[in-house]
Amino acid sequence: SIDLRIFPTIDGVGSAVADEIQELIQVRDNVVLGLATGSSPLATYRELRRRFTDGTVSLERARGFLLDEYVGLPRGHRETYRAVIERELGNRVGFGVNAIAGPDVWAPDLADACERYEEQIATAGGIDLQILGIGSNGHIGFNEPGSDFASRTRVSRLTDQTRADNARFFGDDIAAVPTHCVTQGLGTIGEARRIVLIATGHSKSHAVARLLTDPATPDLPASALLNHPSVTLFADAAAVATV
Ligand code: GLP
Repeated sequence: SIDLRIFPTIDGVGSAVADEIQELIQVRDNVVLGLATGSSPLATYRELRRRFTDGTVSLERARGFLLDEYVGLPRGHRETYRAVIERELGNRVGFGVNAIAGPDVWAPDLADACERYEEQIATAGGIDLQILGIGSNGHIGFNEPGSDFASRTRVSRLTDQTRADNARFFGDDIAAVPTHCVTQGLGTIGEARRIVLIATGHSKSHAVARLLTDPATPDLPASALLNHPSVTLFADAAAVATV
């Protein structure tokens, strides 16, 4: 089952998730974080930057693994998830130069790159805490509806809904949104020891309502988390309005 914590505002969500990350980093060295992009974790990342600036928290002894990455953008493009995470976090929270890993979507052999990424995560000892957003269609990472609960890191095609949702990052031009990505699979994500799922805003309320009431189904990829022993959904009031 999923533990639910509701906050009045997005900033409330951000500081609660930052609290959890801070507590983990204070009790453990070499913490491995799974890092989502999109708008959901932005308040958390902002709060971590604030706490790094005032000396409360530092990720200098932590590592991060990207949850997913677009295929087809040039290396260094500002909307690659690597660029987003370097901009939002990176040295602004104390990560070392090589502390952030992502799937090599520029490799000639993508299937091989996916396998190597799984190996990198395993070599790091697995993910301690995975930060996740949820798509309006219930996707996590880029595991779109229909994804197998046992799926591993792989190339996946984005749905039209997801491309439309993400067009705002590409000048509202759907044609500019990549059609494919590499995503950690639902099976990969499920191996993280702790999962923090963030949902804010009305556009998530339908997916959240289904997640909290319906049985697990591949139609709602986030429902794969129902089988996980340690998941908390951090929601703002708008995201649970219809529950
Ligand atoms: C995107 C990303 C996910 C993200 C989710 C929600 O397409 N691939 O990593 O968690 O969908 O996005 P947002 O937080 O912007 O609503």
